[in-house]
Amino acid sequence: MNTQTVNTLLAAIADVGQDAKRGGYSRPVYSNAEITLREWFIAEASRRGLEVCTDANGIIWAWWDMPGSAKDEASRRGALVTGSHLDSVPGGGAFDGPLGVASALAAYDLLAEREAAGTLVRHRALALTVFPEEEGSRFGVACLGSRLLTGAIDPAKALNLRDAQGNTFAEVARANGLDPARMGRDEVELGRIGDFIELHVEQGKGLNSEEYTDHAGRGPAIAVGDTILGHGRWRLSFSGQGNHAGTTLMTDRSDPMIAASQSIVAVRQIAAAQDNARATVGRVEPVPGGTNVIASRVDLWLDVRHPDDAVTAMLVEKIHGQAQKFAAFEGCTVNLTEESLSATVHFDAALTRSLSGSVRRLVPDAPLLPTGAGHDAGVLAAAVPSGMLYVRNPSGISHSPEEYVEDDDAAAGVLALADALEDLL
Ligand code: GLV
Ligand code: MN
Ligand code: MN
Repeated sequence: MNTQTVNTLLAAIADVGQDAKRGGYSRPVYSNAEITLREWFIAEASRRGLEVCTDANGIIWAWWDMPGSAKDEASRRGALVTGSHLDSVPGGGAFDGPLGVASALAAYDLLAEREAAGTLVRHRALALTVFPEEEGSRFGVACLGSRLLTGAIDPAKALNLRDAQGNTFAEVARANGLDPARMGRDEVELGRIGDFIELHVEQGKGLNSEEYTDHAGRGPAIAVGDTILGHGRWRLSFSGQGNHAGTTLMTDRSDPMIAASQSIVAVRQIAAAQDNARATVGRVEPVPGGTNVIASRVDLWLDVRHPDDAVTAMLVEKIHGQAQKFAAFEGCTVNLTEESLSATVHFDAALTRSLSGSVRRLVPDAPLLPTGAGHDAGVLAAAVPSGMLYVRNPSGISHSPEEYVEDDDAAAGVLALADALEDLL
């Protein structure tokens, strides 16, 4: 088996899920595109002789068992696990998720070569994983697979989530061969994770910040994850009186679009006034959504992040208060629903030290980097030692087609991941 580069692996899926309307990729979980990517991963892992299985929560595991092992629960307990996700945001980049999956396959190739050459002696199994619905772009809750696995979400709540077409997660899971009754915290699978490492494209300007760049303005290729900013998602649902755009006098309207748009501006103002806060409205849905129709309802999705979870709660309360004021003034009402909440994560200290030691042999100036982006590794961190590696993104842009990783940096990422895995195996 020849070693494959992460670039040739990613080139093979470059056509899957391209979004002609938005640009970039739209690969919602269990869409044709994401299923094609899952099949691609299973084929790549199987080609390598790894044993592939999909667990009750839809997480794919590809096992590199210990030589001569029984491939049973005992021999897989406490394994080293690495992976990421293949689903995307609407119109996302090529690297958010797939870089970690492709790097896991390419790092495995290096490790298998090292074992064959006798330079690697393993003490435990390695598994490569793919997590479903990391972005929450179809069912609203991010990291749904890892939340189910760890019990961070009640399966009953997860199964009732609906996509934009009204399908429940239970229906879609069943259609994809999963048994909704078996979903939820899985002690056996969790027990298999001794340590979890996720390699990911860096999603901001961290590695390109002045603090780390050299005289040519180039930052180090790799960083080690430090913390994940606490974050959550809420839905503000404004209700008013649906009516005719031509016959309804301007003084006669209860238009939820007005209260919603005033609230969007307030979100920006409230977050801007708070140090280290980030708040975004990236999705607005008017019902019924016609040019000549005053909406009867407008749903607005709110993403709020801050290192201090109490401050996040305070910001959401302030935003809700303002939204209530705007709604009342317009003769409308507003209802706030929490969709998901993740506290600030500090990655496992011992694992982070180990990752730093391994990576700095290759990239001596690799920093420890906090991130504002959520990850399955952050959800898993509550249950098992977890850590992350980030690969430099020269654009500093993510959740956009302009997200980018240079070939040399991707190659450095694979080497760093392989070395880090070797040290932990
Ligand atoms: C996922 O990428 C998130 O941070 O929302
Ligand atoms: Mn993402
Ligand atoms: Mn991601």
